[in-house]
Amino acid sequence: MSQSMESPIGIFDSGYGGLTILREIKRLLPEYDYLYLGDNARAPYGTRSFDIVYRFTLQAVNELFSRGCRLVILACNTASAKALRTIQQNDLPTIDPSRRVLGVIRPTVEALEGLTRTGHIGLFATPGTVRSDSYRLEIEKLYPGMKLTGHACPMWVPLIENNEAHHPGADYFVRKDTNALMTADPDIDTVILGCTHYPILYSKIREALPPSVNIVSQGEIVASSLADYLTRHPEIEQTLSRTGASAFLTTESADSFSPMASLFMRTPITSTQITLN
Ligand code: DGL
Repeated sequence: MSQSMESPIGIFDSGYGGLTILREIKRLLPEYDYLYLGDNARAPYGTRSFDIVYRFTLQAVNELFSRGCRLVILACNTASAKALRTIQQNDLPTIDPSRRVLGVIRPTVEALEGLTRTGHIGLFATPGTVRSDSYRLEIEKLYPGMKLTGHACPMWVPLIENNEAHHPGADYFVRKDTNALMTADPDIDTVILGCTHYPILYSKIREALPPSVNIVSQGEIVASSLADYLTRHPEIEQTLSRTGASAFLTTESADSFSPMASLFMRTPITSTQITLN
């Protein structure tokens, strides 16, 4: 990490998915420093239990704090669904109440405003996110009367983590899951990609869904919600370093992470392997 990168914004995901969020955040807020952490060695999180996702996420947050981050974004729906509230309410007060951890579910639900005509929303997410009911609970709070149908796609993250996203096996699973969702509720006119890995399959999902269905992808939403957050919280914003640098950490080998991450970031990056515990 560069010497001047004293207080980067931490971005955490189980693997490569959070890069789809980081790319949009950097596009909107290029002046800040960013430290990305992908727990690739233990991905996917989507099929893991509540306790394990919470424990792994807390380890990642502590790691990012120890490297100077005062603000961490859980760029992972599964971690946001299963660990965010406990970390905010139980852990932060003892670790350091002046630090912040934010998630991606609330801003995504806020962005639904005005998008649906039928009031029928579809959700593609990991089994853990769908089972947690986090999206349903947020939607009920903000838009009573909207109907949410969740569909878990357990194969999508492994396809991406194993570099199969652009091969025919991915077409098969994307079609299978989009058909299942649209059969479950044919009145759906808006679909949330509720996993940060899924934008990597965007073109296949777009092709497989009826053209009239809106797709809500999280990168730009989370970026503008972060910009808004920083404007409303100058006490946090003033602690962030601004050299426009990014660094990348992974729990897998850097030799496998860096080339894949360079593809997703559309620019060459280097990374460092670390161990979380
Ligand atoms: N990208 C993450 C999410 O948004 C996690 C995927 C996984 O590890 O299963 O849910």
